[in-house]
Amino acid sequence: MKVYAIFANDNTKGTTYKIFEQAVATLKDQGHEVDILNLYEREKEIPFFRHDRGHMESHPFYLENKERFLQADALLIVFPLFWYSVPGILKAWLDMINGWAYKYETGLHANPLHKIKKAFILYSSMQGKEHLEKGLHSPVENQLCETCKFIGIPEVEVYLIDNVTKMTPEDMEKHLENIAKLCKTCVG
Ligand SMILES: Cc1cc2nc3c(=O)[nH]c(=O)nc-3n(C[C@H](O)[C@H](O)[C@H](O)COP(=O)(O)O)c2cc1C
Repeated sequence: MKVYAIFANDNTKGTTYKIFEQAVATLKDQGHEVDILNLYEREKEIPFFRHDRGHMESHPFYLENKERFLQADALLIVFPLFWYSVPGILKAWLDMINGWAYKYETGLHANPLHKIKKAFILYSSMQGKEHLEKGLHSPVENQLCETCKFIGIPEVEVYLIDNVTKMTPEDMEKHLENIAKLCKTCVG
């Protein structure tokens, strides 16, 4: 399987990057091909969405990303929670896929133009899971799951690493184990 792996954090020394590395290593161990896009490494090349199709379709990053997206069978998206949402750079990436990922006709969801069957969403937060789930109904999870459903990705797995600032080495070890397990069981 070909996995398009998107990382959205400038910090490559923190928890989020460790999560990402663990997921990528596990997927590679399982024999999958992993195509890595570290968004901050390309930050100066990423366009904000514009309705002018000519502008978007002549943009080198848009075209490159379109090709990489359309080759993928699965998606891995890893990011830190920023204001109960995705970091802005990831939102710019998500807006861009609007240009090619689906064809909308009628109803609640669109028809996929890609072949992605599975999305893995891993994210970190400073706040605890209970607060994000009970108090706020996990806004970023709901938003990303709905976006995936809309563009026709049938299976979505979400894993949260919460309380990052209070994390013990044992907690981290457990999270890394869980992520490895998730990657092994969920992606073929
Ligand atoms: C702009 C910004 C907004 C943030 N918003 C939230 C938030 O809404 N909820 C939360 O729990 N943590 C929030 N955080 C904390 C980050 O999620 C946390 O720093 C990140 O998970 C740490 O990952 P890292 O160590 O890999 O960089 C925010 C951090 C920044 C910089």
